Amino acid sequence: MVWISNPVSRLSGRILPPGDKSCSHRALMFAALASGRSVISGLLEGDDVLRTGEACRALGANVKQIAPYTWEVIGTGGYSQPDDRIDFGNSGTGSRLMMGAMAGFPIRVDLTGDESLRSRPMARVLDPLKSMGADVKGEDPDRLPLTLIGSSDLQAIDYTPPHASAQVKSAILLAGLNAKGTTIVREARKTRDHTERMLEGFGIELTQEAVGEGQNISIVGGQSLTPVDFTVPGDPSSAAFLFAAGMISPDADVTIEGIMTNPTRAGLLKLAYDMAELEDLERHTISGEEVVTVRVTGSGRVKRAIPGQELTAAMIDEFPIYAVLAAFAEGETRITGAEELRVKESDRITATVNMLRANGVEADELPDGFVIQGCNGKVPGGGVVDTMHDHRIAMSALIMGTASQEPVGVDDIAMIATSYPEFFQHMRTLGADIREA
Ligand code: S3P
Repeated sequence: MVWISNPVSRLSGRILPPGDKSCSHRALMFAALASGRSVISGLLEGDDVLRTGEACRALGANVKQIAPYTWEVIGTGGYSQPDDRIDFGNSGTGSRLMMGAMAGFPIRVDLTGDESLRSRPMARVLDPLKSMGADVKGEDPDRLPLTLIGSSDLQAIDYTPPHASAQVKSAILLAGLNAKGTTIVREARKTRDHTERMLEGFGIELTQEAVGEGQNISIVGGQSLTPVDFTVPGDPSSAAFLFAAGMISPDADVTIEGIMTNPTRAGLLKLAYDMAELEDLERHTISGEEVVTVRVTGSGRVKRAIPGQELTAAMIDEFPIYAVLAAFAEGETRITGAEELRVKESDRITATVNMLRANGVEADELPDGFVIQGCNGKVPGGGVVDTMHDHRIAMSALIMGTASQEPVGVDDIAMIATSYPEFFQHMRTLGADIREA
């Protein structure tokens, strides 16, 4: 079913984006690992996170919603044998982090996911877990469905992940919590650090040593988590769609509240200040994370700004919407060193380039990035985008349509609910005209 975003002359209003997806997954998982009652407020109630909640329940925790966006988790101090197979839906984060967390318990768990997740690489997590002592059975050792056989006799490892991946880092650290000895993960480039920060919040001791642009993290096995009350800060990846909409709008006055500014996440926000009129209105701290309220005004002129390699990990989920901004800017934008985009919910290099081409923007794939010829404010539009069932491609295309010359369509909107169920309501509040064709 095709949905169309029609160009609108003005976007204005004030929006609080949903809770951060990465923090929401971790809050549920960690609370389920602790002994006792944690209360999580501001939880993202998207499908991906709800699946993690289901998984925690299947593994023995009591997980229930006690008010809108507020959840109570009563953890049992570990994970116990589930009765049935666990289905992680679309969620790479839920599945990969929980594999790590489950690996240190003597349980045998059948795992699966939707078509997109079943096509994504899992060996990057499973190989180090196997070398710690977990076992894995399945037709393809790199793909779901498979069976994870945990062990109460895991051994610590010293591991240098070959990819810049917070999911791999996190899975190993979570397995390391229940391993004998000190597990060390050496990151060449620092990826999002929510696992490190939030584990500390749940009473775990770990050390982080900065090494060049990366870090070494060490965690001693055998520690227990203490329950906490945690408020989830606003998701910078969801907020990116809102501030990008303001940046390309011909007449914008858009304020976005409470965007988490964690430097391992705020790559696009950092760049946005150089691309358009963004003003910080207020900053405060939520659960140890700084959040900012940003006002975007202007007439839709977007200046080109190209991220250095040091920003790639900190905006890895924002490349589709960044590509839309590059299409509205003037001149050529060339992105390299972002090969991880090929293994996201879709191949986001192909999906992003196809999204732009379908709407009259000149764009080409590179093995590890893309090249976009900016249209200097005049993106033609008029196409229907093959979202490849990817939520971030769908939202990026719909944002592009708010300011293109002709409407932009998408072939599917269902996946948007995995990360941003309130997207349509929020865009309507701002004055967007998005409707079923
Ligand atoms: C995430 C890490 C990133 C990111 C994903 C969430 C996390 O994936 O793309 O949306 O919460 O740890 P990788 O670790 O595969 O880069």
